[in-house]
Parts: sequence; C-alpha cells; structure tokens
Amino acid sequence: ARLPELLRAMPKAELHIHIEGSLEPELIFALAQRNGLQLPYASVAELRSAYAFCNLQSFLDIYYAGASVLRHEQDFYDLAHAYLARAARDRVLHAEIFFDPQTHTARGVAIETVIDGLHRACAEARTGLGISATLILCFLRHLSEKAAFETLEQAEPLLDKIVGVGLDSSEQGHPPEKFARVFARCRERGLHLVAHAGEEGPPAYIWSALDVLRVERIDHGVQAVHDAALMQRLAHQRIALTVCPLSNQKLCVFPSLAQHNLGRLLDAGLAATVNSDDPAYFGGYINENFTQVFAATGLTARQAYQLAFNSFEASFAGNADKRLWQ
Ligand code: ADE
Ligand code: ZN
Repeated sequence: ARLPELLRAMPKAELHIHIEGSLEPELIFALAQRNGLQLPYASVAELRSAYAFCNLQSFLDIYYAGASVLRHEQDFYDLAHAYLARAARDRVLHAEIFFDPQTHTARGVAIETVIDGLHRACAEARTGLGISATLILCFLRHLSEKAAFETLEQAEPLLDKIVGVGLDSSEQGHPPEKFARVFARCRERGLHLVAHAGEEGPPAYIWSALDVLRVERIDHGVQAVHDAALMQRLAHQRIALTVCPLSNQKLCVFPSLAQHNLGRLLDAGLAATVNSDDPAYFGGYINENFTQVFAATGLTARQAYQLAFNSFEASFAGNADKRLWQ
C-alpha cells in the first residue's frame, strides 16, 4: 500500500491534544449563539483569516479568546465529543486529552463544569466509539505557583476523573522549576506528570522538567537536538517526546516542514510520537500531521510503525484500555 494510506489506517494513540485547540470556528460560532455572546468577527471565514501566527504567544492570544465561548457542562461535552469522533476517523484508539481549567475558572466557570463535561464525553467514547480517552489537567505556566495550587485544590474532589497533570502556555521566561512544589504535590496524589518543554524554550527547560518536576514525558522537546548529552539521556531512558509537526510549522519553530527534525530524533533512538497539539488552529488532525511530515521529510514505513508503537508504549493506558482496543 502507499505510505499515506498506511499512515491513515495504522492504529495510533494521541498523547498531545489540547481540547480547547480542537475548537473549530464553526463550533465557536454555534456556542456563541447558544450562549448569547457577541464575537468580534462577522463570520467563520473572518475568524479563520485571523489564524496567522508566527510564534507561540501570537497563537495563545487567539486560542484563549476562542475558548471564552465555553460556559456550560454541555459545551465542554460537545467539544470533547467532536474531537473524539474526529479522532476515531483517524484510527486513534487511545487519546490523552489536555485541558486548561484556569482559562475557564478565570471567567467564573466552575472547575467541575469543565471536568464533568469533558469526562462524560470520554466515558461515552469507550462504548460509542471504541476509544479509550483520559484527561490531563494542565497548569498555565504564565500564571503563578499560587494560582496552580489553588487550581489543584479545586480539582481535588475530581481527581478520579483525571490521569495526570501537565504544564503549558507561554514557555519563555517561565521555567519548569517555577512549579516544582505543585508537581511534587501532584506526584504524592499518584497523578502522572508531563510538561511542555523545548518547544521554543532552551534544552535547560527539558533538563529541569525531568530533574525538578520529574515528568514522565516531554511535550514537544524538539529543541533537545541542541544538547548532545540531553539527547543521550532521552534515548537511554526512553523518555517519550510528543512532537507536533504542523504546530511547529505554523508557529515557525522550523523555517519549513521539510526542515523538521522528527527524523533526526528517531535516528538518535528517541521515543518520538506524532500528535496534533491544536488541530483547529494549525490546519490538521493527527493523520494530517503524519502524512504532511512524512511527505515533507521523506520518512519511511518502518519509521511509521516505530512512531505508532512509541505512542502506545508512552501512553498511560491501563489494562482496561488495552482490552478495549482488541
Ligand atoms: N497551549 C495550547 N497549545 C500550546 C502549545 N503548543 N504550547 C504551549 N501551550 C499551549
Ligand atoms: Zn501543546
């Protein structure tokens, strides 16, 4: 079979998807209408034309504005259900979904509204779509350690509905060690730990995510190639990187997709995976990330198999999830 067909048909796990980043312009308009909100854009096309970014911050400003139409439990359910139905078509068998509670609680939405809506969609996807889906609560790193602790406290009664915590938002100037104590507390709670590091930020942030936060996976991590000792460590310890090619292209992390370093990471023996990050904003879901980065950089069928294998191996899926896929 041709490589693009193989990529689309191959079973895979998605480990780096921000649910607010799967909010399509059509759903933004539908939710704005349902919730009686006025948008500063006249049409879906006008909103879409504002999606021109050239770094992480310019994207984040629009991403947080888009998320402001999410108000009710049903809104969060509809959002997650739409993503999961779309992921099923891309042969995703397992998804670990990031969400940013602080962007919602800051607008007066209760954290249980967020978590209950997302969790209901995940639970239904097991029977309705045959997908296992779990939730990872992300702390916004541009906010304070105190704000992160308050968020963890609010989430405390709902911890059985999340599998782990992560760290996202503006990377530069907000090193992982700012959240050392929050992550230590989450670790005591038995939560899995991940963090965005080395997307735009330096290799030093990947070191501190590993050594100070004690994370199990690195989200993005593509800047690791600038540090040979770090590359060796990531390879030897089989620490997964959740790489997002179209995101890196749209945020100008690489001059072009052809210059993406995914092949270099795999050649160095790192447990890289392919993911979609914010597919509604970056022009494609997971299969589009696979087909475009393979076409642009000339990766092989063998590397496709390795990426899919890595995605399951690096997941936090349990035995009940694994039984569901069989
Ligand atoms: N939040 C949503 N997408 C993100 C990304 N690519 N980096 C950091 N924070 C994010
Ligand atoms: Zn991300």
